[in-house]
Amino acid sequence: MALDLRVNGKPYAVNVEPRRTLLDALRHDCGLTGTKKVCDMGNCGACTVILDGRTVYACLVLAAECENQSVTTIECSDQDEAPWLSALQQAFIDHDAFQCGYCTPGQLMSLSALFSKNSTPDEQAITDAVAGNLCRCGAYRHILKAASAVADAERAKWADP
Ligand code: FES
Ligand code: FES
Repeated sequence: MALDLRVNGKPYAVNVEPRRTLLDALRHDCGLTGTKKVCDMGNCGACTVILDGRTVYACLVLAAECENQSVTTIECSDQDEAPWLSALQQAFIDHDAFQCGYCTPGQLMSLSALFSKNSTPDEQAITDAVAGNLCRCGAYRHILKAASAVADAERAKWADP
C-alpha cells in the first residue's frame, strides 16, 4: 500500500505491505536507522518515537496507522518539533549517559516528550518517563543525572537573581 508519512517535519512517500511496522518503515523505507530495533515485541523501548506528541514503541505500531500523524525520531533537527532534543543529547554526552548506545535514541525520545510537557521535571518524573526504556548497560544513574542537569539549567533560568 502507498502511504504518505510525515517524519521530522518532512514528507516520505513509501510503498509497504499492510503488516509493515512503523519501526521497519522508518528504518528500511525512510532510511532513518537512528530508531533501534532490539526486541521487536514491545519489551525494551529501544524503538521509542513520538507520534503526535505521545511516545510509542514503533515496533508495535503499523505504518499504515501513522498517515496524517506527525512522527518524530532521534534524527529530528527541527527545533519546533523536538525543542529539547539537542540539549538532552549534549547532556548525555556531558554526563556519560550511555555505553553501547543501543537504548540511547529511545531514552532520548522518552525524555524529549517529557520535557515538552514539563521543562523542569523532578527525579521521579524523569524516572517515570524512561520506565519503559531498558538499558542493558545499566547507565540509569547517568541518564538520570543528564536529564536532571537539563531540568536544573532550565530552573536556574527562572530563578530569582
Ligand atoms: S524494539 Fe520495540 S520495544 Fe523493543
Ligand atoms: S547504553 Fe547500552 S543498552 Fe543502554
